[in-house]
Amino acid sequence: MGSSPDQMQFFSVLLKLMGARSTIEVGVFTGYSLLSTALALPAGGKVVAIDVSRECYELGRPVIEAAGVAHKVDFREGDGLAVLDGMLCEDGGARAGAFDFAYADADKLQYAGYHERLLRLVRVGGVIAYDNTLWGGSVAMPRDMPGSSDYDRLVRDSFLRFNAAVAADDRVEACILPIADGVTLCRRRHALPPRQVKHPPFPLLIAQHDEDEFLVLDPDIHHTCGIIGIRPYIVCGMSRGQPTRAVCGRIVELPTRVVTAASCHTPNKYY
Ligand SMILES: C[S@@+](CC[C@H](N)C(=O)[O-])C[C@H]1O[C@@H](n2cnc3c(N)ncnc32)[C@H](O)[C@@H]1O
Repeated sequence: MGSSPDQMQFFSVLLKLMGARSTIEVGVFTGYSLLSTALALPAGGKVVAIDVSRECYELGRPVIEAAGVAHKVDFREGDGLAVLDGMLCEDGGARAGAFDFAYADADKLQYAGYHERLLRLVRVGGVIAYDNTLWGGSVAMPRDMPGSSDYDRLVRDSFLRFNAAVAADDRVEACILPIADGVTLCRRRHALPPRQVKHPPFPLLIAQHDEDEFLVLDPDIHHTCGIIGIRPYIVCGMSRGQPTRAVCGRIVELPTRVVTAASCHTPNKYY
């Protein structure tokens, strides 16, 4: 489950070469790569560490504390896509472009989604690293290699698509390092046009929370969760037309009333 030591030595040198101060990690597990990153950051550095499992993170936290770097870790429990969406909303969008480096090592089937979000969170010239992009070498082998499981084939196919998309993505300069299980590095090249929120196939829902506050429910998040209905993920809060908070990745109570976008604010500008 953990990243390999040679990979972490490489990241450590890379972070120092870049002068990185602010990083993101999606997929913490028990914190091996997190510890390595926190040790590589300077005294005032911070790593936002995201995982669906707080339990795993708590297992490794004593080691991070013993290493004297716990103060550099901002752990966020939740689904990677949802937490990244929340970060894009935070501080009125000020965190977009604020990170030097990001490492994605969580749900292998969500890398395309992580890419879209991390590209906006790292600065121009910042680097995103993706783990496992050679998936045991299977991306260069016939699909039905003896011993491969259905999950292996699913992930292999997903990495073939992801690797091709990254190679064709002119927003980044990319390379695949044949170390560990394959590590893709993407350097962000330039500024990006405003993010488009996809409305179809179902409309963006806006739920009235109280008299002044509206909660926007992101269709991407619904898609991720596979549910529309009760107890959805709330992405952004707005009060009197201004973003007020992001409570992404946390289940909140069913809002009191749901109305469609047509009768409320235009949501795109809040992303
Ligand atoms: C390969 S492990 C991470 C290993 C870690 N980077 C290291 O090198 O020590 C993958 C982690 O991703 C987490 N994960 C899986 N799906 C996730 C998701 N959708 N959002 C956030 N974390 C997820 C799992 O709980 C697991 O801890």
